[in-house]
Amino acid sequence: MAETDDTGGSRREFLFYATGCAGCVATGAAVLPLIDQANPAADTRALSSVTVDVSGVEPGQQITVQWQGKPVFIRRRTAAEIAAARAVPLSDLPDPVAENANLPPDAAATDAHRSLDPAGEWLVMLGVCTHLGCVPLGDEAGDFGGWFCPCHGSHYDTAGRIRRGPATENLHIPVAEFVDATTLRLGTEG
Ligand code: FES
Repeated sequence: MAETDDTGGSRREFLFYATGCAGCVATGAAVLPLIDQANPAADTRALSSVTVDVSGVEPGQQITVQWQGKPVFIRRRTAAEIAAARAVPLSDLPDPVAENANLPPDAAATDAHRSLDPAGEWLVMLGVCTHLGCVPLGDEAGDFGGWFCPCHGSHYDTAGRIRRGPATENLHIPVAEFVDATTLRLGTEG
């Protein structure tokens, strides 16, 4: 099931998945993504940059927003999730690189290189399985407590790193940054 929020802009940019279903993810909080309306070409800008208010997201909750036609998972991880991810030896990872567009392409897949903030609370990833593109299930799904793609059985850990199954790459991390304490921007402004 999907619901939309038309606060301040075109409805089609504001697709959220509200409940779990095959190929969908559960959300834990309502959020208001905000498109910068100052530029008259707002629809064009929305393709490259979207801001999301994450002030209502509590630890252990995940929201999903649509960006550039793809779901983006935004998860505020619990301390246990962070600790589990940081305890994994790099040698256990099928994909050794971070797959993080904010870092050099050869950055190692450490948990610190996967999370958006130094404390490791925020994980922002494309919700697109790196096998054939299904949307993985979230909220501690799969054998590694992260995400699970039921299409062909790919398991991702609490840092979104592939651990088992046919997928060969970690869930990709898009260009993203916090523009203030509670506002996340996906993509590049301008
Ligand atoms: Fe995810 Fe095949 S598309 S396991």
